[in-house]
Amino acid sequence: MSVHVLDHPLIQHKLAILRNKNTSVKEFRELIQEISGLMCFEATRNLPTQEVEVETPITTAKCRMLSGKKLAIVPVLRAGLGMVDSMVDLIPSAKIGHIGLFRDEKTHKPVEYFCKLPEDIENRVVFLVDPMLATGGSAIAAIDALKKRGCKHIVMMNIIGCPEGVEAVRSAHPDVELYMAALDEKLNENAYIVPGLGDAGDRIFGTK
Ligand code: PRP
Ligand code: URA
Repeated sequence: MSVHVLDHPLIQHKLAILRNKNTSVKEFRELIQEISGLMCFEATRNLPTQEVEVETPITTAKCRMLSGKKLAIVPVLRAGLGMVDSMVDLIPSAKIGHIGLFRDEKTHKPVEYFCKLPEDIENRVVFLVDPMLATGGSAIAAIDALKKRGCKHIVMMNIIGCPEGVEAVRSAHPDVELYMAALDEKLNENAYIVPGLGDAGDRIFGTK
């Protein structure tokens, strides 16, 4: 499995503000979008392109445009929703699916409550987005749901991951590409990422 930790200075700067417990809900939301946009730039780097001819006002230019499979963006609800808008700004033709999962507070196991995907999802490259990769349970369940519907090319984007989550995804789904802005130290006893940023969903939606 390929794991990419995006240590670009702009991403790292924004991540430092995102982690701060005093960052407001408004700023947190904006930063999640900004970081996702920057990550999208890297996560789409290997998409195939094809040569096209374009008439400029001066002459004919050989240019390149995206080719191959169409794209889909699939946020894991709730927190993944915070990453969608900046991705759609950059890939306006992408279709959007939703997978709803929450972690049981005691067992930390994911519980699926919603799944609605584009009809032709199996023919698309899927960008699965969720700010946090903790135990990896939610990521594995979301990837299971996508593969069950025929998806073959899945790129997972997390803002913060940890070694436990990466290893869990690697052993369940070694074919998935993983992009993250930071690979943190570990999980704590409540399966929260350390140092992390707390509960991403609560910080995006202001629910706590
Ligand atoms: C968070 C996060 C991931 C999951 C990661 O969601 O957005 O989906 O936890 O944890 P895991 O790797 O241990 O599964 P949460 O379950 O808190 O739901 P929410 O987005 O609705 O708040
Ligand atoms: N979910 C979160 O939102 N944060 C964590 O640190 C772990 C799971």
